[in-house]
Amino acid sequence: MWQGKAPAIAIRRTTSIRVQLSLVSHSPKWWFDKPAANLTCSSSLLDWMIRSQGHIETALAACLPSGQCTPTHLHEAMRYAVLDGGKRVRPLLVFAAGQLTDANYEELTRAACAVELIHAYSLVHDDMPCMDDDALRRGKASVHVKFGEATALLTGDALQAHAVFVLAQGKNPPERQLEMLRILAQASGSRGMCGGQAIDLASVGMHLSLEQLEQMHQLKTGALLQAAVFLGALCGQQLNGNQRVALTRYCNAVGLAFQVIDDILDVTSDSIILGKTAGKDQANNKPTYVSILGLDTSKALAEKCRIEAHNALETYSLENPRLDLSVQRLSQLADFIVQRSD
Ligand code: IPE
Ligand code: IPE
Ligand code: MG
Ligand code: MG
Ligand code: MG
Repeated sequence: MWQGKAPAIAIRRTTSIRVQLSLVSHSPKWWFDKPAANLTCSSSLLDWMIRSQGHIETALAACLPSGQCTPTHLHEAMRYAVLDGGKRVRPLLVFAAGQLTDANYEELTRAACAVELIHAYSLVHDDMPCMDDDALRRGKASVHVKFGEATALLTGDALQAHAVFVLAQGKNPPERQLEMLRILAQASGSRGMCGGQAIDLASVGMHLSLEQLEQMHQLKTGALLQAAVFLGALCGQQLNGNQRVALTRYCNAVGLAFQVIDDILDVTSDSIILGKTAGKDQANNKPTYVSILGLDTSKALAEKCRIEAHNALETYSLENPRLDLSVQRLSQLADFIVQRSD
């Protein structure tokens, strides 16, 4: 079941808040080896992020089949797609949301793995020549470049199935388990991420209205982020109706902000920082917030979403002022999502 040996993880942090998370016996990593000082997140958020990222890396390494296990080519590709890269924003949202409901850490870890497996699968397929045709992902060759197209296709399929397999092993009450599986499936499918990706592909070269653009972004990116938050919260005490409404409002704001910033970074950043090919949206003639609203208005929109996310959490806390502290991580993650540089 839990196969593969978790690699030892070394976490190094220097005084200039340059952070390196490197898996021992792997090459130096690009994604933390850059200044984080431009983030206005507190260092305690940074500590929490580093610890959580290390924890999720170990859990993902342990939950994936070993690369020595037949079919080795597919299992190696799955591990390559998932491990050793990415900001792990979705797992971080799972852990942060779990703080709201005093969730069990083991269940949170399982949910965090499941949602990251779905995300990793979506990236593998997103990069394929029939979609965005990107040769670079998380600072390394995309899965189809390294392992071939057929294996990339199967890697995505297998990661998706594995996400369900992992989540289904949860020890939450059966009704809760079913709700979590339903949430993950819906967020991944045609009324979630896949639906958004379909609209994205159908929109090449077209002008979308702001409403259509927002719907596409909410589906292709927002849906899975929302699933992450609700999966985390559901690993603990029951949410009441008002809390669900407030959390949904938070997710809508953060989900939109995440993809608006992704669109902005595609224009303003470079491939080394991003770990994926910059300028790809324009090259592929994709309608984005930047192409429709321009850079400044897009940045203002992301900021508006950040404030909306904070307001939503305030509403959540009004329900129970003792929750003030437990919403802190979600609130900080909203800031991180808008202020990130990759
Ligand atoms: C990139 O997601 C794809 C989108 C949904 C915009 P991330 O920016 O979370 O990618 P990683 O996981 O950090 O590589
Ligand atoms: C993809 O959006 C969102 C997914 C569901 C993978 P993008 O195509 O903009 O993501 P990047 O920029 O390649 O990471
Ligand atoms: Mg895409
Ligand atoms: Mg893409
Ligand atoms: Mg993008």
